[in-house]
Amino acid sequence: MISNHLVFMIASGDVFGKDQPVSLSLLGSERSRTALEGVAMELEDSLCPLLREVRLGIDPRKVFRDADWALLIGAKPRGPGMERRDLLDLNGQIYKEQGQALNEVASRNCKMLVVGNPCNTNALIGLENAPDLPRRNWHALTRLDENRAKCQLALKAGKFYTSVTNMCIWGNHSTTQVPDFVNAKIEGVPAREYIHDDKWLKEEFTPTVANRGGVLIKKWGRSSAASTAVSIADHIRSLTQPTKEGDCFSTAVITDGNPYGLAEGLVYSMPARSKGDGDYEIIPGFHMNDWLIEKCKASEDELLKERDCVGHLLPNATVAQC
Ligand code: LMR
Repeated sequence: MISNHLVFMIASGDVFGKDQPVSLSLLGSERSRTALEGVAMELEDSLCPLLREVRLGIDPRKVFRDADWALLIGAKPRGPGMERRDLLDLNGQIYKEQGQALNEVASRNCKMLVVGNPCNTNALIGLENAPDLPRRNWHALTRLDENRAKCQLALKAGKFYTSVTNMCIWGNHSTTQVPDFVNAKIEGVPAREYIHDDKWLKEEFTPTVANRGGVLIKKWGRSSAASTAVSIADHIRSLTQPTKEGDCFSTAVITDGNPYGLAEGLVYSMPARSKGDGDYEIIPGFHMNDWLIEKCKASEDELLKERDCVGHLLPNATVAQC
């Protein structure tokens, strides 16, 4: 569902730019092979002038060959009543195999964006199984959470959502995520100058953003698709276009050498900026008050536990106790 929205955005130039030709390689499974052919037919019939080629396959070692961007969306989705941790083992195996395949055949500077949940730990599994690719090139998607947070702050402040900037999501793409209203800005000033109600920020805004994916699953009977595709496009544009002064974007990336004292070897969402060259730097100096520190620690603890649970999928792990 997500991919079906996304491929048409990519093919029409909304993601990589109106002057950037694209070649799509779609990875399916035995079960989805025929459906993939249907997607390819629709792409052909859309006459997208930038679309140079559509390749289909079910072998990641063929489909990922020379990839510059790998958008790793496929995974068993969370159904009603399921927690993300239920998916750890089910989906971890997929990301181990895809990490190994990318390591063998992708472009040496390929950027990987993991969307399938639990995306932070899936990205960790992928990167640990791809020792020849840059670890920093692995991202897990928290841009959807950032967009949700911007929307909620804008609604509360009675402003348009483009006025909300510097909106960082910290941590795991799970209910422990931390939408950072402390450093967020509305019309260039701290959001709390518009929203004075700290109780609302802590007790309504924060859980609303963190639980939105689950609430949506209950309503739809499936997880978000269109808004996820939009946020993937936003994420890619954040890396391919320069970040505006005083703004940031959220991305979950490897914590090695991070400026916030977070445990290393986790894929954890932090504030980033880019020159627009596909790379990024983590922005140091965000103000961390006691509330943020405590919440960020809880998300870090959750990711440490997830890492323990997937020790059997990490080649160099000494931890295998879940
Ligand atoms: C979402 O946030 O909507 C998705 O990641 C679905 C989920 O499992 O939370």
